[in-house]
Amino acid sequence: MLTLTNTFAADVLDGLNRPPSLPKQLQPKYFYDALGSTLFERICCLPEYYPTRTELQILADNACEIARAIGPYADILEFGAGSLTKVGHILEGLQAIGRPLSYTPIDISGKHLFRAARALMATYPDLEICPRVEDYMAIEKLPKPSQHPIGLFFGSTIGNLEPRESVALLRRAATLLRGGGLLIGVDLVKRPDLLHAAYNDQEGLTAQFNINLLRRINRELKGTFDLNAFSHYAYYNPARQRIEMHLVSREDQVAEVCSTSIELREGETIHTESSHKFTVAGFQELAADSGFNPKKVWIDRAQLFSLHWLETAV
Ligand code: AVI
Repeated sequence: MLTLTNTFAADVLDGLNRPPSLPKQLQPKYFYDALGSTLFERICCLPEYYPTRTELQILADNACEIARAIGPYADILEFGAGSLTKVGHILEGLQAIGRPLSYTPIDISGKHLFRAARALMATYPDLEICPRVEDYMAIEKLPKPSQHPIGLFFGSTIGNLEPRESVALLRRAATLLRGGGLLIGVDLVKRPDLLHAAYNDQEGLTAQFNINLLRRINRELKGTFDLNAFSHYAYYNPARQRIEMHLVSREDQVAEVCSTSIELREGETIHTESSHKFTVAGFQELAADSGFNPKKVWIDRAQLFSLHWLETAV
């Protein structure tokens, strides 16, 4: 059986050790080691990074209506739960309707998850909270929630998947959540300058977040990347409706990863993340293709971000 490190090594070598005609790439899920998770939390508080505060505002403004859509006595699962800051609005809204039976936050970053879960347990001592360290893509590994399954998938994390992967993930979610629904945060297409600013912040935290992926490879996979020999590069690709994040090699160089030589030419990039943006209609179409019934969407005034309530078949 492959261990997590071996899978990491296999994925990294698969993405970097490619013929020169194929672009090098790394999977964004590997950003989130301890430092990466901390950097991401700091990114979420940046003035340029609008998604987190806008989604929180949408949740706060519509907590009662969202709680009514979810309904009483839910078994709630949160995919890619992170620091568990958003579920508080759902739990508050549900107080008047009927408390959930259980809450299962799922995240790949264990330490972070358990710390956040302990804090939430102190606030909601009567709620059964069962954190699970898992890649949210591995939905089929999750036990089927009993009565009234509700999924939460915030932060537009769905945007980090390729369109084909999003449909596959949503299809698996629709099966798991049969008889319930999914509340999902989705970032909207908008002015490219706003998008550019969000992924090229003045403080340089997004650049650190991006470069930290090479630091992690150096530490965990005996890598020899010179972190100063790469630049952060993020731009909006309108044809594909996505921000693309890359690490650009500043010079011709050779690095070792797990005793394999990786050659990079000056100007060559490693594609580290795509962050897809959606129109409301475009996302609803994707959800319907995946077996969900799009029911309601909440959007902020500036139309930056959307929160969709999708129901499954009974
Ligand atoms: C987690 N994910 C939705 C973030 C995004 O906006 O795509 C990750 C991120 N990358 C750079 N800044 C934030």
